[in-house]
Amino acid sequence: MTKKTKEPKLDFTTDWAYAPAPEDTKHISLKKQYDLFINGEFVKPNSKKYFATYNPATEEKIAEVAEADEKDVDTAVKAARKAFDKWSKISAKERGKYIYRIARLIQERAREFAVIETMDGGKPIRESRDIDVPLAANHFFYYAGWTDKLEYAFPNRTPKPLGVAGQIIPWNFPLLMAAWKIAPALATGNTVVLKPAETTSLTALKLAELIRDSGLPDGVVNIITGAGRTGTAIVKHPDINKIAFTGSTDVGKMIQKAIAGTDKKLTLELGGKAANIIFEDAPIDQAVEGIVNGIFFNQGHVCCAGSRLFVQESVADVVIRKLKDRMETLIVGDPLDKNTDIGAINSKEQLSKINNYLKIGKEEGADIYQSSCSILGKGYFCKPTLFLNASQSHRVVQEEIFGPVLTVQTFRTIEEVIEKANNIPYGLSAGVWTDKGSKIFNLTSKLRAGVVWANTYNKFDPTSPFGGYKESGFGREGGLHGLMPYLKF
Ligand code: NAI
Ligand code: MG
Repeated sequence: MTKKTKEPKLDFTTDWAYAPAPEDTKHISLKKQYDLFINGEFVKPNSKKYFATYNPATEEKIAEVAEADEKDVDTAVKAARKAFDKWSKISAKERGKYIYRIARLIQERAREFAVIETMDGGKPIRESRDIDVPLAANHFFYYAGWTDKLEYAFPNRTPKPLGVAGQIIPWNFPLLMAAWKIAPALATGNTVVLKPAETTSLTALKLAELIRDSGLPDGVVNIITGAGRTGTAIVKHPDINKIAFTGSTDVGKMIQKAIAGTDKKLTLELGGKAANIIFEDAPIDQAVEGIVNGIFFNQGHVCCAGSRLFVQESVADVVIRKLKDRMETLIVGDPLDKNTDIGAINSKEQLSKINNYLKIGKEEGADIYQSSCSILGKGYFCKPTLFLNASQSHRVVQEEIFGPVLTVQTFRTIEEVIEKANNIPYGLSAGVWTDKGSKIFNLTSKLRAGVVWANTYNKFDPTSPFGGYKESGFGREGGLHGLMPYLKF
């Protein structure tokens, strides 16, 4: 195979003064059909089968994506294994250069990534543009910096890469999750076989084009598409050394069972049902913004979403009144419009799951409140929703809905709210709103949650480790901790 040695031309103009108008999507280069990215090139799937990916806001088909079977997975793993011999031996400094280059190329094509992310997955363009894409680039920048500092990160130890990492990611932050997975694996000298989720493969495939153009040695990153069966083939492949999975708790448990007894390493980032706790001494208007951002960001398709609101009784009336007023101002609609706050639900299946929970919540006796916005006739949309007077035993309080649905409970004492916040199978994140630093420290030490935000919510940074307790999974991504799952000592 010929080596691509051409240096990419870099352009650092990533600041957009405006979001693209819908007609700008004409200039986005999308192919009709996408193949598998294996060993540095796009190849047809063994089965010759393709599946459609849709725009959930219009229900229109955008493109066809290859379905990888066991044989394709094996070809990708073999390419990654062969590449590992070289990649793990090149100097750390060289490795870093490649990762920096990927980061810069993402910045250069930021607009294209943002529009495709929004078209394929339904999230508001403002979020893809200002959060997902810049954070994905930042993740590569951050881990590029670690490549030649591993011995400093783990003094008196000799960190070594594991080999081939199999990585399976979900549909809620498609490009960003690819960055979370690929960047630390490459920085530590591993090679990768990554599978995006079946409803949102396009930005990962765009990333594959960019990786090809970056000159990264062939086979270091392989991106293959497909659904659960393809994921299972990755999990079961005997020559994979590590599985990194983000997705539902049910699939996470299946993966854990499937690899029991093998020497594969595993990290699982699963569901959540975070408590967002508002004390009477909190800055109320800021807290209301934090509640809105906590649950309505990315239509609530967020594993760390603040989906259970706890308000101290003395301020409950005012907080709920202000929250309802604020919900009235949220614009639900065309994800490509820069004024949209809440875009489309990712898929028909996810919308019916959410609608089923709306039914369950009403049957259980919680009071439903929805904003009075109208929703488009076509596409998958859900009005921002509250379940008031919810109780701890309700299924809508205990189970992950993964939509723009917030349960509301009140509390009197700090002991009571800690007890209720922790009394749940999940433990990924939590939020605390108060004017008192001592209360924040008290809560952060007692809440069983991997991330606790104080007087803010849903803030992400590559330097900060992220991960859960209990059924939210194990292992950390991000920061120095995010290097460890890809190393042996
Ligand atoms: P899922 O867990 O089935 O999908 C996540 C990824 O796993 C996708 O790439 C999928 O193709 C792959 N996958 C599916 N079955 C697999 C298997 N047996 N072996 C290996 N890989 C497999 O999630 P799904 O069905 O799309 O969503 C269902 C619910 O899961 C959501 O309603 C939400 O509650 C939760 N979820 C949580 C996420 C999180 O970030 N915590 C992300 C996605 C979903
Ligand atoms: Mg899609």
